[in-house]
Amino acid sequence: MERLQKIIAKAGICSRRAAEKLISDGRVKVGGRVVTELGFQAEWPGQKIEVDGKVLAAPEKHVYILINKPRGYISTASDDRGRKTVLDLVPSVKERIYPVGRLDYDTEGLLLLTNDGELMNGLLHPRQEVKKTYIAMVEGELSGEKMDSLRGGVELSDGKTAPAQVLLLPNSRPPLYEVRITIHEGRNRQVRRMFESVGCRVISLRRVRFAALSLKGLECGGKRPLTDEEVMMLYEIAGLEK
Ligand code: URA
Repeated sequence: MERLQKIIAKAGICSRRAAEKLISDGRVKVGGRVVTELGFQAEWPGQKIEVDGKVLAAPEKHVYILINKPRGYISTASDDRGRKTVLDLVPSVKERIYPVGRLDYDTEGLLLLTNDGELMNGLLHPRQEVKKTYIAMVEGELSGEKMDSLRGGVELSDGKTAPAQVLLLPNSRPPLYEVRITIHEGRNRQVRRMFESVGCRVISLRRVRFAALSLKGLECGGKRPLTDEEVMMLYEIAGLEK
C-alpha cells in the first residue's frame, strides 16, 4: 500500500505536489470512486487508479544507464534534422528512456538516461541544487580577476549566475586554459556563456560529474547501468524517498 500521490508521481504523471492538487481537485479515482483525501493509501499495481478518467498503466521496470556522450550527438529523444541522438548509443534498451537534462551537441561526457520520471524531476528541480562538474578547454585571456568573477557569479542575458567553483588545472598554457568548473544551475549553454561573458571561448567541454556520479572508467561512447547504491544516492540527492 502506498499513498496515492506517491503512486501518481511514480507513474510519471506529475510531481507529488501536483498529484496532491489533482487529488484535492477530485480528478483521481480509485476502484471507480473519486478520492479527495490526501493520506489515502492504495495498492498499485492491483487497484484501478484513474486520473481524469485515464487508467494508470502498469509501472515499467526502472532503467538507469550512464553514458559517456561523444561530441556530435544531441540529447533529445529525436531530431527533426536527422542527427544522431544519445539514444543511438543504447540500441539494446527497450524501455522508453530519456536524458536527465541536456548536454550540447558539441559537449562530451556524463549523461544519465532513465525512465524514472520522478527521479528525473527531482534531480532537475532548481531547489535541489544538484552539482555538475565540467572540464573546459578555454581560449582567451583568463586572469585571476576573471576567475574570481566566474566564481562570484556573472551577468548573463537570463540573469546573474549563482556562485560556482572554478579551478585552473596544471595543463593550462596561456592563451589556452584547462578549467574545472562546478555549477548547480542548469541553464542553456551555461558554461559556454559564462566564459563568453568574460571574453573567453570554450573550445571543448566535458562533463565529468553529475550529482553522485562520475565518469571514471567509462570510455567515450561507453555506457553502464547504475548500481543499486548509486540509485539510492541519487534518490537522496533528489530529495526523495525510495
Ligand atoms: N554548459 C554548456 O555550456 N554546455 C553544456 O552542454 C553543458 C553545460
